[in-house]
Amino acid sequence: MMKVSRNWQIISYECIDSTNAEAVRKSADYFADGLIITAKEQSKGRGRMGRVWQSFVGNLFFSQLFKSNAPLWVLTYISSLSVCESIQELCRGLDVKIKWPNDVMVSGGKISGILIESGKNDTAVVGIGVNLQFSPDSKDILYPTTNLRDLGFDISQEDFLQCYLKIFDKYYDTFIAEGFANIRHQWISCSYKLNEEILVSQGNKKQKGIFKGIDENGCLLLKQEDNTLKISAGDVFA
Ligand code: BTN
Repeated sequence: MMKVSRNWQIISYECIDSTNAEAVRKSADYFADGLIITAKEQSKGRGRMGRVWQSFVGNLFFSQLFKSNAPLWVLTYISSLSVCESIQELCRGLDVKIKWPNDVMVSGGKISGILIESGKNDTAVVGIGVNLQFSPDSKDILYPTTNLRDLGFDISQEDFLQCYLKIFDKYYDTFIAEGFANIRHQWISCSYKLNEEILVSQGNKKQKGIFKGIDENGCLLLKQEDNTLKISAGDVFA
């Protein structure tokens, strides 16, 4: 198999507004390939759909900046699968699942979120937050949350990042060599609420149905009585 894994270069900050914002800024005059921006603290952590990502010191925040030969929607699945597998590898025995499109859950609580953006010069920015030690205040968010320390695992930021990058490179190489089919299959096997009823919210529009995984273009498949909807963006509620 052709190997395209990168030699990731890591830049670490004590405090920054957002590692994604910094990665997007750096993409303007960026010529090497494979940069990781990490920070101990973020003052303006960004979440999906314009939301805030509460960034407690002790959790992990990083962004990957690279020229991607995979489209951004594929990176959604590669990165969430890699976070999921990292937790499985570092914390044996936990029930880890991925809630569409890319929230990683342990025992029904969100433990990691991913925000993918495009940078300048055809770069991709994959930003990942992992609750290693703290969970956000649940009064501020719409869903249950958890963190690895409360689940009995003391994992350092460095160990998690190294494990993640190893697994990310593996799945990225798989995509380049074979396309999306294998990633799709693996992602579906780790997905949260597969074949169960979910509610998909897209702004004010809410639709119920049975979650049937994702299609070959990464759309969520929602089976209703007489048809199956294909949904490309939104939030899933159980
Ligand atoms: C979400 O679930 O809404 C996505 C959260 C993504 C958070 C990470 S933390 C590191 C990177 N920098 C940011 O500002 N956001 C992402």
